[in-house]
Amino acid sequence: MNCCHHYQLTPGNEQVFSADLTRIRYGCGVLQELGQEARALGIRRAAVYTDRLVASLPLFQEAIEALCCEGVEAVIYDEVRVEPTDISFRDAAAFAKSSAFDGFVSIGGGSVIDTAKAANLYSTCPGDFMDYVNAPIGQGLAVPGPLRPHLACPTTAGTGSESTGIAVFDLLEMKSKTGISSRAMLPDRGIIDPRWTESLPATVMAATGFDAISHALEALTAKPFTSRPRSESISGRPMPQGANPFSDTLCREALRQAGWYLVRAVNEAADHEARHAMMYAATLAGVGFGNAGCHLPHAMSYPVSGRVQNYFPDGYPEDEPICPHGMSVIVNAPAAYRFTAPGCPERHTEGAQLLGADTGDAEPADAGTVLAQHLEKMMRATGAPNGIGGVGFTEDAVDGLAKAATAQQRLLLVAPVAVEEADLKMLYREALSYW
Ligand SMILES: [Fe+2]
Repeated sequence: MNCCHHYQLTPGNEQVFSADLTRIRYGCGVLQELGQEARALGIRRAAVYTDRLVASLPLFQEAIEALCCEGVEAVIYDEVRVEPTDISFRDAAAFAKSSAFDGFVSIGGGSVIDTAKAANLYSTCPGDFMDYVNAPIGQGLAVPGPLRPHLACPTTAGTGSESTGIAVFDLLEMKSKTGISSRAMLPDRGIIDPRWTESLPATVMAATGFDAISHALEALTAKPFTSRPRSESISGRPMPQGANPFSDTLCREALRQAGWYLVRAVNEAADHEARHAMMYAATLAGVGFGNAGCHLPHAMSYPVSGRVQNYFPDGYPEDEPICPHGMSVIVNAPAAYRFTAPGCPERHTEGAQLLGADTGDAEPADAGTVLAQHLEKMMRATGAPNGIGGVGFTEDAVDGLAKAATAQQRLLLVAPVAVEEADLKMLYREALSYW
């Protein structure tokens, strides 16, 4: 560990960290093993969640054939919404209840995998929709028992959803995202085939790649797990437990890989080496943040994606405005890291260095600036929007964004510095534009 004092053990505080893992199968062609993996989990009739775009791709047919070859009946639900909502989660759960499925397969980006998690939860466990939604927005109740098996096949290089027990959605009445978190929702398999990245539009590659970068940076700079009071029970130990040696190892390598490959992967679709490497970086970052937590950039992102009104990026559905998840994270990230850097400056500097920044003469007081400036350089090199102003927000929106982000306490509590509503107003103003 680069800082021997980061995990200082204190009487009464936590001394144990968890590593909760999806069983990962990674590599080109692994999709052909999907049927065998499903059979190994006892699945004979699977609800297959996807979206219409993914369902039209040759690799999707390869996946379905792999299921059929092993005698697994695949019943397809291709109506998953990109950036799902509470309504689309309910619709997906209704499909899951409509027939006797003994397992779930999700083939898509984070929206698809999250939707399958929610469909599995709500079709298995009775209760009100808000029962399992994170407190204080929902009741935050524990999932009462095991869910049915779920094999997640990510098609983008970013969300890491195949490796987390988190499902994120837009709560329409709140105009912001929130989520459901439970170890019970951790998929049983992550079937990760880098060939999916070869056909991704550049904007999707950029948005998802920056999401992965921020997952790794947020997990690396999260409060250390040793700063929490000791958990009274194993179920009381939160999934966002804070930075720990296990997540650090994964996040450092994710940042190193992303620093080498993201710009190439976005700007050159035929650069399969770079695109495949970003799939690996996203996998590492997904396991890393799934076992540590995210903080301020993600908390700031949720109201941005929930309130976007006039932004239609290439490569995404054109029927309504959208700020894709990773894009909503990265447009806030430079401002956020400038603010969080005093909490653990050495880790912010290290993050910048791993991404390829020259940090030679940087003092601890420079850490936030060094990291923010390097992210801005990567954003400009990949055509990312210039702050939240670049996706259509103006000064008028700042108060509402700050109020909504304040509700993201589950994320904010993991930040290495305290964050109040007044801070969020200042941060959104700073995030309006960077260059
Ligand atoms: Fe994310």
